[in-house]
Amino acid sequence: MNDNDRWILSFYRHSEISGAQFFARLAKSLPAGPIQFDLTKHFADESQHAWYWSRAINDMGMEPLKMTFAYQDHYLEAAGMPTNVMEILALTQVFERRIIAQYARHARVRDIHPAVRATLELIMEDEKWHIQWVGDALKQMEEKFGAERVKNTYERYRKADEEVYGRLIAEHDERVGHILDKQNYAF
Ligand SMILES: [Fe+2]
Ligand SMILES: [Fe+2]
Repeated sequence: MNDNDRWILSFYRHSEISGAQFFARLAKSLPAGPIQFDLTKHFADESQHAWYWSRAINDMGMEPLKMTFAYQDHYLEAAGMPTNVMEILALTQVFERRIIAQYARHARVRDIHPAVRATLELIMEDEKWHIQWVGDALKQMEEKFGAERVKNTYERYRKADEEVYGRLIAEHDERVGHILDKQNYAF
């Protein structure tokens, strides 16, 4: 494992912890109901993901790097803090799609460590459910907020995400470039 691998896995670990903290706060503050129920499971999953990355890094004989930022930090800066449940769900949906796309790309890179491949596959199973339940909950929000407003909110966060991701890739190209380069894919 080289320094870039260690950096990327540490970044994943750190971002999963930030996700867990974000959903943990929501799970505490939202009123009882189906959204609170699913969010609690969601928060538990993100915590597990942080553990899976910790374990993978350990299996590779390394320790996680101390990271100073998580993907989510840039997000809230670019898109603004969500102010209601619908906005939280829209932001979450955009974010979950980004994560699963990133992990899916990473899983295609040839010659990755077996611990990394196993962890990516394990986490992607959970992420599929995250996208599904949040998508269903967002659909239900259309009744209260209107389909147009839900769609526009999703679009606003999607644009912010593109901006944040683009900036992140540009800033850390030497670390993540090989994951995004299709030449390095095994299939
Ligand atoms: Fe996760
Ligand atoms: Fe997730």
